[in-house]
Amino acid sequence: MDAIAKETARQPVRGPHVWDAGDFQNGEWISPFPEAASTAIRKLIDEVRAAGVRFEDYTPIPELRDGLTELGEDIRDALATGTGFSLLRGLDISDYSLDELKIVHQEMGRHIGLVTLQTADHPAMISEVTDIGDAGPKEFYYHRGGPLPFHMDPVDVVGLLCIRPALRGGLSGIVSSGALHNLLLAERPDVLDTLYRGFFHLDRHYLTEDGGRVLNDYRSPVYSDIRGDTVCTYLSEPILMTERAGLYTLTPEERDALAVFDETARRPELILDMDLQPGDFQFLNNRHVLHSRSDYEDYTDKEKARMLLRVWMTMPGWTKLPREIPFTDAELGTLPT
Ligand SMILES: [Fe+2]
Repeated sequence: MDAIAKETARQPVRGPHVWDAGDFQNGEWISPFPEAASTAIRKLIDEVRAAGVRFEDYTPIPELRDGLTELGEDIRDALATGTGFSLLRGLDISDYSLDELKIVHQEMGRHIGLVTLQTADHPAMISEVTDIGDAGPKEFYYHRGGPLPFHMDPVDVVGLLCIRPALRGGLSGIVSSGALHNLLLAERPDVLDTLYRGFFHLDRHYLTEDGGRVLNDYRSPVYSDIRGDTVCTYLSEPILMTERAGLYTLTPEERDALAVFDETARRPELILDMDLQPGDFQFLNNRHVLHSRSDYEDYTDKEKARMLLRVWMTMPGWTKLPREIPFTDAELGTLPT
């Protein structure tokens, strides 16, 4: 009785953010980078050069910039009430240094939402997404090479600016979490129930006296209905870390739900593959769109190696999420680990 009640209560997700790869033909998901925005960026960098300011010392002026305001609004609309993503192509970045492009990307982010720090251990407004090779422990996805599973970054919006693509591969694949929800509802409603119930994560802030980690005393749902919106938040790493830390053992149902979610997200008909080119901006609503990366072959020359810049934004106008959703919240000063 209970199970029937649950199944009949779940409805397919509907809206423009529910799509599959077949809904987009011949690159119609690519928007041209507006001329007015290119001009505004040229002016910005001319000012930065004249003042001799480097990214680490850069502070944006309080006012928004002509030429970027309208673009920011369009991207916000696409993220909030459209497909949940925006891909812009056409900014010529060949005359700008990496340092200057960090300023550009932060400015783009600032015209869309509230740019927020990324990760508590290495706080930064802009991260370099690149394979750091032997230079560090690669504890974060953005420092690793190779393929990445489907996931969301734990913040409202993520933006990538492609500086250099890989020699071969490294496609950015995106999937509508609503379309994935509907497939699971049709094929595996039991799995969907487990995903709605959620998973334990490690507490992001609390450490025991000897520095040990503890479990949250609540589950974080993968899918949740928040004021009429079906929000998806999925990052398998904090779930699997509970086992690695010896604090929790996943039940067979939970293990199965993670595997089925991962497998179903990889269905080719769901995936919109983006072959990012230098100067491409990709913005994603992390409540509605999952992303991944295909395997790639990189240049051995570090100066040529695949490189993207990442910005994270919280969206002050969007529905506030409950604490069970492990998103960065700049207003609360919380950061993901
Ligand atoms: Fe990511």
